[in-house]
Amino acid sequence: MATGSTPPSLPKRILRKGFRPLYPLYYRYLWGRTFPGHGALRRWVRAWEDLSTRGDAPQSAEAWDQQYRQGEWDLLQDTAEIPRYERLVELWRRHAGAGSLLDIGAGDAVLRPYLPTAARYLGVDLSAAAVERGQSRLQPGDRLLAADAERWQPDEALDAIVLNECVYYFEDPIETVERFRGELAAEGVLIVSMFETPRSQAIRRRLLEVLPALEQTVVPADRGGSWWMGVFAARGASSGEVSRIEAVDRGAAGGTATATVSASR
Ligand SMILES: C[S@@+](CC[C@H](N)C(=O)[O-])C[C@H]1O[C@@H](n2cnc3c(N)ncnc32)[C@H](O)[C@@H]1O
Repeated sequence: MATGSTPPSLPKRILRKGFRPLYPLYYRYLWGRTFPGHGALRRWVRAWEDLSTRGDAPQSAEAWDQQYRQGEWDLLQDTAEIPRYERLVELWRRHAGAGSLLDIGAGDAVLRPYLPTAARYLGVDLSAAAVERGQSRLQPGDRLLAADAERWQPDEALDAIVLNECVYYFEDPIETVERFRGELAAEGVLIVSMFETPRSQAIRRRLLEVLPALEQTVVPADRGGSWWMGVFAARGASSGEVSRIEAVDRGAAGGTATATVSASR
């Protein structure tokens, strides 16, 4: 999302255009892998992402604040977004359904009204502007805090942790998701939703390699593309369960149809 007003210099424009065709290849084949020079390449790609002001890469708290103040994220309240929130809540109901819910990257708490009043809701977001706006959506006893999720940690074990359209904004998405999984109560679940992009698909592939998934689903978006959602257990699943899920993942990633698979714990 564009945040600056100064036009980029010619070398920057050439760099921006030149790397564009290689960008999906980097996320398809190289991201998350270790090879000579991988750290330098990763930093270079991140610099390119900053130049390109892509919508699926990390941004500063100030950039988020500006976008919320300008109303750029009011789009999350559009009717086109409803199927995403509804599916996510359906997953939560099926796998947790009660108790405490931690909403990471909560924005202005658009998710909150989709949840039962009785849910114990705690939201965290990098943007103080979003957090300020979100207070009006809270129920008594709820909390919405401004903090960097990559550094913040909860002070209690959670029944559910939701990472709803925020994981691709983390510098270290896999480490952060794994760390939050460790903050779950013994029977807790972690639910990730990500709009499909080359970067988010690379994150999804890696997540499925390292974490036992209970269920995946793909929700088509009206504007084109789709949201992928995965439910992860606090405790391990057998390798048989994980491989069944990966087989469906390959099918779901190639098409736009809704696909869901479950594995019992
Ligand atoms: C696309 S919005 C999604 C908001 C909300 N989850 C929803 O779906 O309604 C992404 C949110 O992630 C937040 N975010 C980005 N990086 C973050 C970080 N490091 N820690 C916490 N929140 C972050 C942004 O401030 C923004 O509110």
